[in-house]
Amino acid sequence: MARLDVPATIRRKRDGHELEADEIRAFFTAYLDGDVAEEQMSAFLMAGVIRGFTPDEAAAMTEVAVASGEVVDLSGLAGPTVDKHSTGGVGDTTTLVVAPILAACGLQVAKLSGRGLGHTGGTLDKLEAIPGFRVSLSPDEVTAQVTDIGLAVAAATADVVPLDKRLYALRDVTATVQSAALIAASVMSKKLAGGASTVLLDVKVGDGAFMTDLDDATELARQCVAIGQAHGRATGALITDMSQPLSHAIGNAVEVAHAVDVLTGERPGRFRDLCLELATAALVLTGRDPDDAAAATADALDSQAAADRFRAMVSAQGGDADIVDDPRAVLPDAPVVGTWQAPDGVLVDVDTRGLGALAGGLGAGRQRKEDDVDPTVGLEFWLEIGDDTTAIEPSVTIHASTGEDLDWARGRLEDLVTVGEGAVPPPLVHDRLLGEDPA
Ligand code: URA
Repeated sequence: MARLDVPATIRRKRDGHELEADEIRAFFTAYLDGDVAEEQMSAFLMAGVIRGFTPDEAAAMTEVAVASGEVVDLSGLAGPTVDKHSTGGVGDTTTLVVAPILAACGLQVAKLSGRGLGHTGGTLDKLEAIPGFRVSLSPDEVTAQVTDIGLAVAAATADVVPLDKRLYALRDVTATVQSAALIAASVMSKKLAGGASTVLLDVKVGDGAFMTDLDDATELARQCVAIGQAHGRATGALITDMSQPLSHAIGNAVEVAHAVDVLTGERPGRFRDLCLELATAALVLTGRDPDDAAAATADALDSQAAADRFRAMVSAQGGDADIVDDPRAVLPDAPVVGTWQAPDGVLVDVDTRGLGALAGGLGAGRQRKEDDVDPTVGLEFWLEIGDDTTAIEPSVTIHASTGEDLDWARGRLEDLVTVGEGAVPPPLVHDRLLGEDPA
């Protein structure tokens, strides 16, 4: 391999050239070895975000990222192994429902999850709201638990895709998250290293997502699917709406409570519908007939088989399994709970990113990487686009740690909600990429 000229490589990207796979490999490997400085990588990433990275460049980045750490070996597990990944949203707790449904349908679910990022929530932070729940499992513990009960949701250890951990932290503070190729490489390196044979992506689009435009989200979905398929994984994607919160809950304990409500059949609506769509799509990727898959996932919820799997997972990971019978008795409460009512009219728009940031500002998310989250705080946003606000009271329930925070949240909500006339509710699923060819 030719000697790497770091400034020249940055210059070529700055001037809009596509780099050869070898050049990409050399550049990212040199970064791992300490031969590309953080400021050089920042400049390179920004050049690529502005000029664009190609799908081939994304594929080469993914390879270096996977090879940077451990790859979990799930080959000893019987039956198809499955992982799902959301690109991040607000009120987006689907893993807590979809993983148990899939386990109840006979799949082996080994899911490595992350923490909240920016205005978006993270599955690990939510699960840790359950008293006693342990998210740090070794790869051996993950495989033993999946063998035993069909599912485990755990933190990726520091040894899995360390390149992504470094790059993600850098991208977060250099405004270089929004690139289909960079997100595809980040997501798919973790999915490939996670070892599952089937991978379903939930690519979010809307102002509460990293991709706000449908064309960009479609490009991201195609790149993820192409990378997964090139590595022999049955990979598909749904492109789903994030122009309003997915569930009515935004926070940690509140989101867990709503997910348990769906598992126990007490909360119909968009969130439940999307969980069923995602679980059905994952089953289809394993070769099941679509009608048969839809019937199996609905039955897993209706029969309580999925709720039983969730109970078994909570118990196996040290949490209080009574959560399934009475989530609000088990989960910690916020010190102050209050309400807010929207002006009279039809909800025509909601600043979803702003709602995520508001929940974060109450303490449900982090301002800095090293902060702890407060499991008790958050919002229950009871409205959906198209609802008559006079028919739903309250519009929002606020869970806060102080009266001052409660007043602050009420003030912010006035700016985040637009009431008027004649709203068109957005579709739940914009597109499905479940066929052979992502192009
Ligand atoms: N989620 C990821 O895992 N990586 C990204 O780059 C964006 C969202």
